[in-house]
Amino acid sequence: MNEQRAEDWPLLMTPDNDTAAFSVDIRRRLHQIPELAMTEKKTSALIEAELRKLGFSPRCNIAGTGIVADLVFSASGPTVMIRADMDALPIQEETGLECASLHDGAMHACGHDGHMAMVLGTAKHLVECSRTAAGKNLCGKVRFVFQPAEESACGAQAMMDAGVLEGVDFCIATHIWPEIPKGTIGVREGYLMAAMGKFNITLTGKGGHGSQPHLCTDVVDAAAQVTCALQHVVSRRINPVLPAVLTVGSLQAGHTYNIIPQTARIMGTTRAFHQEVRASWENHIRQVVEGVCTGMGISATIEFSEEDGPVDNDPAVTSVVREAAIDVVGKSRVVDPGLSMTSEDFARYQTKVPGCLFFLGAGTADGKPLHNSGFTFDEDILITGTQTFCSATAGLLNAQKA
Ligand code: NI
Repeated sequence: MNEQRAEDWPLLMTPDNDTAAFSVDIRRRLHQIPELAMTEKKTSALIEAELRKLGFSPRCNIAGTGIVADLVFSASGPTVMIRADMDALPIQEETGLECASLHDGAMHACGHDGHMAMVLGTAKHLVECSRTAAGKNLCGKVRFVFQPAEESACGAQAMMDAGVLEGVDFCIATHIWPEIPKGTIGVREGYLMAAMGKFNITLTGKGGHGSQPHLCTDVVDAAAQVTCALQHVVSRRINPVLPAVLTVGSLQAGHTYNIIPQTARIMGTTRAFHQEVRASWENHIRQVVEGVCTGMGISATIEFSEEDGPVDNDPAVTSVVREAAIDVVGKSRVVDPGLSMTSEDFARYQTKVPGCLFFLGAGTADGKPLHNSGFTFDEDILITGTQTFCSATAGLLNAQKA
């Protein structure tokens, strides 16, 4: 533990058992009411009610279901934003938990229930601190942000369009992470999670009878060849020392055995970190698809868009978060989680404000991965995340203090 900081803000470093129990209770209640992107109404109502109980006057219905609440320590000083994502996934839960989803076909399988519980726990603890001598030493403001629609990669931008970053100097967030062990915290400067692109290809040929391929131009055959050829983009065209992924996630054509269909549709995603790769995807995809299709007499329309840039952690903010993590779990348990090809729309905020997203270790021997119908985590990690948020916030509020 960093003695100087521990001495300055003893209460900030150690949210109590009461806060731990509070976060666990919130997590269970949220876990029961998972809602998909942009429909987080019950979730939003629960968060609003809890914030009001804590004495906040939250701003609600931001970008649909988003919520923003400010805690002011002093009029001058920096503003630190702490962000939680609110949405769930279209998965039928199979955890067998007592607090399992009550909503058919929806589940918090990405830990966002835990993220919200930790940010609310942080709000509770910091409010209590603001009434003590420790709080009087802090200057600036903390902005608690509950953002809808992380999974559909549109929530962060919508919150930014609604002005949530106004006056914000630093932003922090976490993601529960089963790929590193429970009890550890993953902190990494620079790139952490990948830029995500999306492509949509429609092939149009000439449909007809399955017995008369010579009278048709076959989109099923073309779609199969396009899918295979796309796999050569990463292996043959991208600089092999730069991480890149291209996945075809959907291929649809035809509906019965003896008809050559008129159209086929291919959808997929790309992941990369470096601008050189990110900027090259569209051209590579276009060349491959048009090359294959021209040779087969098929016409193709190709849409490509980059939905999010990479999570790119600011060195100064990350060093404060790392120090906070060391305070909480000790140096040997603060790990470099490595690059992840997953993406996070927290990256959007980072294009405007220096920030850091850290991973909260949740890995256990029998654990399931994120987005799995059996995914769950040990609730003991919630207080670890809350402590890290509290300590990092104290560090960041102090960062610009004279
Ligand atoms: Ni997630």
